[in-house]
Amino acid sequence: MQKEIMLRAMRFDDLDKVYEIERCLFPNPWPRYFFEEDLQFSNTIAFVVENNGEIIGYSLGSCADIRLHITNIAVVAGCQRRGIGQILLREMESVAIERGCTFAYLEVRMNNTAAIGMYKNAGYDILHVSKRYYIDGDDAYVMHKELI
Ligand SMILES: CC(C)(COP(=O)(O)OP(=O)(O)OC[C@H]1O[C@@H](n2cnc3c(N)ncnc32)[C@H](O)[C@@H]1OP(=O)(O)O)[C@@H](O)C(=O)NCCC(=O)NCCS
Repeated sequence: MQKEIMLRAMRFDDLDKVYEIERCLFPNPWPRYFFEEDLQFSNTIAFVVENNGEIIGYSLGSCADIRLHITNIAVVAGCQRRGIGQILLREMESVAIERGCTFAYLEVRMNNTAAIGMYKNAGYDILHVSKRYYIDGDDAYVMHKELI
């Protein structure tokens, strides 16, 4: 991986690549229309990270009043553990703070050590377990963080 890393807002014409990554990384990927719908909502925050023009990661979240709900974050397998996830997370938090959010939360599979590690590293704590949160019946940790 070279160092020409750029973060920018996600656009509709990114969705072919974003959806390809989604299907590679998640056991139960979002349907494509989730991305299409989210990009139309004004409360959505959505970024991609490019490396030399190629999308290697993305994030989505939504702001509701003072709460940022982090709904998706992913980095392609070959580019993980190089700080990209953290960049995506930090940028989403900072836009959410600009929009008045004081609190961020998310759901994560209890066996997803990489994601749990990333969130803990960024200051998130486990709040509780959400039983059968996922469509395949898996439970989720709900994690949260005070943003300011
Ligand atoms: C979770 C994910 C987005 C992390 O992205 P990333 O770019 O690899 O993360 P970063 O390099 O920014 O890591 C930041 C910190 O998270 C933690 N972390 C990341 N990957 C980890 C792993 N495999 N095991 C343990 N901790 C990990 C570390 O504390 C790391 O800091 P360090 O490298 O200085 O030790 C990535 O693993 C991924 O896309 N996973 C598949 C999709 C997914 O599960 N998304 C989350 C849904 S809730």
